[in-house]
Amino acid sequence: MSDRVKTITMDIVEAVRDVMRKHDVTFAEYRAGVGHLIKTQEAKEIPLLLDVFLNSTVVEIENRQRDGSKAAIQGPYFREGAPRVNDSLAIRPEDEDQPRMVMRGRVTDLGGSPVADAVIDVWHSTPEGRYSGVHGNIPIEYYRGKITTDENGRYECRSILPVPYQIPNQGPTGELLEKHMGGHSWRPAHIHYWVHAEGMRDLISQAYFEGDKYIEDDSCNGGGTEFMVPEAYEDGVRVMEVDFRLDPAAVRAEAAE
Ligand code: DHB
Ligand code: FE
Repeated sequence: MSDRVKTITMDIVEAVRDVMRKHDVTFAEYRAGVGHLIKTQEAKEIPLLLDVFLNSTVVEIENRQRDGSKAAIQGPYFREGAPRVNDSLAIRPEDEDQPRMVMRGRVTDLGGSPVADAVIDVWHSTPEGRYSGVHGNIPIEYYRGKITTDENGRYECRSILPVPYQIPNQGPTGELLEKHMGGHSWRPAHIHYWVHAEGMRDLISQAYFEGDKYIEDDSCNGGGTEFMVPEAYEDGVRVMEVDFRLDPAAVRAEAAE
């Protein structure tokens, strides 16, 4: 028996009851809601539904207790075991002509000292807004990799540009967002990062492309205001400069004891 599970469960139930009372929910509406959840479960979209509405709230709570760079939603498409890469992610032969980007920046501690040998897992979509190892038959080695920082905490790696991504919208979650709520199922173009470094708290974040119309209207409430990278090019290559300031893990663990 867990007091926390009991308390939170009862608070959720009370919050839902309050909403039902506020809106005089009818029995027919209650049945329609149950029916929608059954459809969501049959389509195996419960994780999608919950991520769309609630993942960003867990991130918001984590960020209240985090110094340095803030976290953003992870999304469902991180995969373990991406290859170590040096100067470029693997680019599919058919994407050779796509616009390029270079991801670069520095990893530091809270005081601005470089963090060497930090490993940054990066992953992003194809030019069709698909993820390797997830959608279609795109081999998992594309557009994913582990970049390591040098002795100055710097990293640099090339790839092609990701595009705005549409979350799966053929099922009940898309129907809820688009048909019943009059919204859409798009996310801004983004790059995912998972930064690991010895003695530091992991940081899972995303970078966005300044000017993308879905940043302020993200179907997943990503709210990614921290790494909004201005439009800049070097030799026609979009520069995605993102610096990470990491929160020390050990200090916090000791302080919590
Ligand atoms: C989803 C996909 C993403 O690429 C992402 O970053 C967040 C959510 C999704 O399909 O739910
Ligand atoms: Fe994503």
